[in-house]
Amino acid sequence: MKIKALKLLTLAFLLIACVLPVLFLSGKTASEPDPSMAGLGFGSLETLNANYKEWETQYEKEGGDRNMVLAIGWFKGLSTGNTYASGLAKFNLIDGHVTVAINGLSQHEAWDVWMVDSAAGRSIALENDDNMLHIGSLTHEGKVSTLAASLGKDAFAKFNMDLIIVTKAGKNPMEDRTLIGTTSLFHHMYRSKQQGQFGALADADPILEQPDKSGFFQRIIEGISPTASAQIGPIPNPSTTLQFSITRGRKSFFNETFNGNGRTCGTCHREDANLTIDAEFIADLPPNDPLFVAEFVPALSQNFENPVLMRKLGLILENPDGFDNLPSKFVMRGVPHTLALLQNTLTPVAAVPGATPLPDGSIPSQDGTTVPPRERTGWGGDGAPGTGTLREFIIGAIVQHYPKTLNRQTNVDFRLPTTGELNDLEAFQKSLGRRADLNLATMQPKFRNEVVRKGVEIFNNGGSVLGQPNEGAGKCFFCHLNAGASDFFFPGANANFNTNVEGLPAQPADLVQPLQLNPQDGGFGRLGVSPTGGFGNGSFNTPVLVEAADTGPFFHNNSIETIEGAVDFYNSTAFNTAPGFGAAIGGIRLEATEVVAVAAMLRVINVLENERSARDLINRMKIATSQAQAKELSNLAISEIQDAVEVLVGGGLHRKAQKEFFNAGVDAHSAGEALTVTDRVALANKALAHLTNARNDIIAP
Ligand code: HEC
Ligand code: HEC
Repeated sequence: MKIKALKLLTLAFLLIACVLPVLFLSGKTASEPDPSMAGLGFGSLETLNANYKEWETQYEKEGGDRNMVLAIGWFKGLSTGNTYASGLAKFNLIDGHVTVAINGLSQHEAWDVWMVDSAAGRSIALENDDNMLHIGSLTHEGKVSTLAASLGKDAFAKFNMDLIIVTKAGKNPMEDRTLIGTTSLFHHMYRSKQQGQFGALADADPILEQPDKSGFFQRIIEGISPTASAQIGPIPNPSTTLQFSITRGRKSFFNETFNGNGRTCGTCHREDANLTIDAEFIADLPPNDPLFVAEFVPALSQNFENPVLMRKLGLILENPDGFDNLPSKFVMRGVPHTLALLQNTLTPVAAVPGATPLPDGSIPSQDGTTVPPRERTGWGGDGAPGTGTLREFIIGAIVQHYPKTLNRQTNVDFRLPTTGELNDLEAFQKSLGRRADLNLATMQPKFRNEVVRKGVEIFNNGGSVLGQPNEGAGKCFFCHLNAGASDFFFPGANANFNTNVEGLPAQPADLVQPLQLNPQDGGFGRLGVSPTGGFGNGSFNTPVLVEAADTGPFFHNNSIETIEGAVDFYNSTAFNTAPGFGAAIGGIRLEATEVVAVAAMLRVINVLENERSARDLINRMKIATSQAQAKELSNLAISEIQDAVEVLVGGGLHRKAQKEFFNAGVDAHSAGEALTVTDRVALANKALAHLTNARNDIIAP
């Protein structure tokens, strides 16, 4: 019955929305002002700014430009050689003082340190016209290699640092790059703000920049989001340039192949599938889609992907533990969405007080992981190579997924991005999704559905850990605070745990006939043997849950298809005997009705996020300057609305809201087709009214 209703609704949507997957990226050049910001797609300037603001507060708390800290490490695709050495560089950009401390470098060799300001529009791979500054040599003190240099007060006035590089003595960064550290998008944004030109990033392609002389965008931003200033403070000289940066980042994310095998980020992170992909979506792709390169490019036919597991279960082959033994050293993982890459979903748990560095130079954290990696990306929380930032993840993804051959040679099998491209891709990704975490406790009494209210209660009940009965205690918030990815015990940080998903019996990927090689996944880290098998310490990074219900299957290996099944995982013997946390929190034991209540809550908060996003897109559609842009925004809004309907139908929840969402979809579609602005605005307003009704059916205002 439910399935039938769902099918009918889906069919209706497909008929009215025609072929939704065909989304047109704005054909306009980036320099034409676009008040609707159609070119940003799901990206939003407000989200980027809110994300930036959080970073800035932290940066200034740690000393700001007097204490800029960069991690330095081996850097996939860019480092020469291979080493586990790593360390930190600290800059005082005001007085020009730099200190560097590296663990794990050979004491029998001498090493130089360089800073690089990449030439605009050039690859971050080193080139002749990059500005390279030799700042000194490392001296060995015990196991640590250090340098302290005073470059003078004006050293950083005109030098926009992109990279810091440790080379073998006597070599320049074009000849040797043993260790590398990079600044991030937010460093560049901070610098542009210091220079009174917020958002004007030093390495952007100058042709695509357009100065905002009129204050036009300031007015637009204030117009569409009166709350923006309240949330993120006054925006200094915003921000045509940032809009362009996100727009370019989006184009690059969905179109740029980096001279590789034809894939783009969007090959796996689909815009019309919540920035992820699953087996159902894969089934509708043509055989020549670049996702399937392993099926038609002979050089990639072995040890690159497993087409059977890809097609049946949406699993992608990854070599997070290194490319040294391709036939057996790999893991099969689902594609996570890239929504809500907020600071607190990237920040590692603090170091163990007084911890001494491990032999590889990394510092142990309180959740059993280490720093580096400096940011938590990917299922293992160690997704990015080298120093482990979201910025380096881009390069890691290119090296992993884009090569023409398995030699994976830079400038032969793919090219590396420019500094500007890295900024843009980072800007797009950090502009996606929510601006902040929910507050489930204050939402709880407002939910209209009593089962959903119960779901919150169970989710936020700590049971025996807090000296209360274990019955009805979901203990979910310990790890997924407010259904985000930050942690109750380590607030503001994104912790790793071994919840023993690997220990589940009868996983779909292990049942596939004929049997496929599917090695144990050791999660975090490249070294050591996980207690549950594989390379690493066995822990996985806690994912956000608000965006979960419409982005299944669940867990790192796509082992569970439904959200109810994913909640029920916490009843399993696997979890309750997990080496990570299962037993330590007195176990989790939920009755079937309680499982459904928690899942209902997860469904409903997902739908509220769909509604927020659809509303944002429809509001922008109202001020679009061309019909093509209006159409594009309407398509994106419809994909959110369609998810909302499916997620509610799947849980038998909020039938009135289902209808309201459906009608909102119909009106949003008509608004996208409207031939006059007046008609479009009227229809968009009707869609918005239906969205309001839907939201009101779910939660009191
Ligand atoms: C062939 C499929 C594929 C392609 C192409 C691809 N990704 Fe991914 N992406 C994945 C998979 C699989 C994971 C999980 C990786 C892991 O756990 O190690 C992932 C994870 C991520 C994450 C981590 C999300 C999180 O919540 O931690 C980010 C960010 C990301 N990808 C960005 C990109 C970017 C940027 C590109 C393009 C440069 C890209 N991806 C290209 C499959 C892909
Ligand atoms: C000890 C920490 C911990 C607790 C407690 C916990 N989780 Fe998780 N959760 C995780 C980790 C870590 C993952 C990722 C595991 C993996 O993929 O191997 C995860 C994954 C999930 C996922 C899959 C998300 C996705 O996008 O694939 C869901 C859903 C989920 N948890 C819900 C819950 C619920 C509901 C509860 C309470 C009943 C709960 N979790 C309790 C740590 C925890």
